[in-house]
Amino acid sequence: MHQKAMPRSGIIDAVEDVTPVVLNAMEGAANPRLREVAAAFVRHMHAFAREVKLTEQEYDIGIDFLNRIGQSTHDSHNEGILFADAIGFSTLVCLLNNGNGGPTETAAALLGPFWRMNSPRTANGGSIVRSATPGPELFVSAIVRDTGGQPVADAEVDVWQSSPVGLYENQDDSQADMNLRGKFTTDAAGRFNFRSVKPAGYPVPMSGPVGDMLRAQKRHPYRPAHLHFLIYKPGFKTLVTQIFVDDDENLESDVVFGVTSALVGDFKRHDAGAPPAGGVKPPWFTLDASFVMTKGEAKLPVAPIK
Ligand code: BEZ
Ligand code: FE
Repeated sequence: MHQKAMPRSGIIDAVEDVTPVVLNAMEGAANPRLREVAAAFVRHMHAFAREVKLTEQEYDIGIDFLNRIGQSTHDSHNEGILFADAIGFSTLVCLLNNGNGGPTETAAALLGPFWRMNSPRTANGGSIVRSATPGPELFVSAIVRDTGGQPVADAEVDVWQSSPVGLYENQDDSQADMNLRGKFTTDAAGRFNFRSVKPAGYPVPMSGPVGDMLRAQKRHPYRPAHLHFLIYKPGFKTLVTQIFVDDDENLESDVVFGVTSALVGDFKRHDAGAPPAGGVKPPWFTLDASFVMTKGEAKLPVAPIK
C-alpha cells in the first residue's frame, strides 16, 4: 500500500495523511497485542476504502448495516456472530487456531450463535429429547482421545442441535427449554453416548441485515444438518466442533462455510434388526464419532446467547 512518510502533526492536509496520522495516534496503547491488532485493522480498513474507492453513500450503507447488526442482537439472538459466520470469518479464525490450519487436519468448527451455557446434565446413554420432537431416532456413540490415542476421561461434553423442523429450542416456543441440548461426562474409557433425533438442515435467521446481505448475493440460507459439540477438560484446548449429516443436499454449500471433510459423519440408517432400545421404530440412525483433544488451555467461549 502506498504510504507517504509520517506527517509532522495530526493535521490532515492530504488523503495520504490519514492512515499514518491515525496509526500514530494509536501508538500509545500499553498492550503490545492491542497495538498490533488495532494498527493492522486500521491499515486494512483504510486500504479497503482506497481499493474500492468507497463512496459516501456506500459508507452510509455500511454504517447502517453495522448498526443494524447491533440492534438485531439480544439475549436469544446474536447477529454479530451470524455475520462473521456468513462471510467465512469464523471458519477462517477457527482454522487459523486449530489443527494444522487445513480443512482435513483440524477437527474444530465454528461455534455458531446458538450455544447456551448450563445445558442440562445428562447421564451417559440418556436422551436430549425433552419435549415431543418428530423425526427418526438417532443413537450417538462417541469417544474422546488425546493426541497420543489415550482416552480422555471426565471431559465435559456439551451437545446441541436443531430439531428436525430446523429450529433450535430458543427459536421455537413449541419446544421445551433446553430441548436437544445436554451436558455429558466422558467415562473412564473416554466415551459418551446419547439418544436424540436425526437433525435436519435449516436456514439461518434471515430477518436481519445478514438476511438482506444473503438475498442481495443470491445465496441460499441453509446449513447442512449437523450436531454441535463443545468438549472441555482442564489441561486440554477446548474443542468446539460439529458433525455433519453425510446425505445432506447442502453439504457443499453451507451458508456459513463450516463443513470440512473431516467433519462429515457416517450416519448409518437401520431399517430392520434389533433396535437399540425398546419402542424404537425403523428407520433409526446410529453415529459413531471420535474426537481428538490437544493439550492446551481449557477456556470456554463467551456464550452467544443466554
Ligand atoms: C448453527 O450452526 O447453529 C449456526 C451457525 C452459524 C450461523 C447460524 C447458525
Ligand atoms: Fe447449528
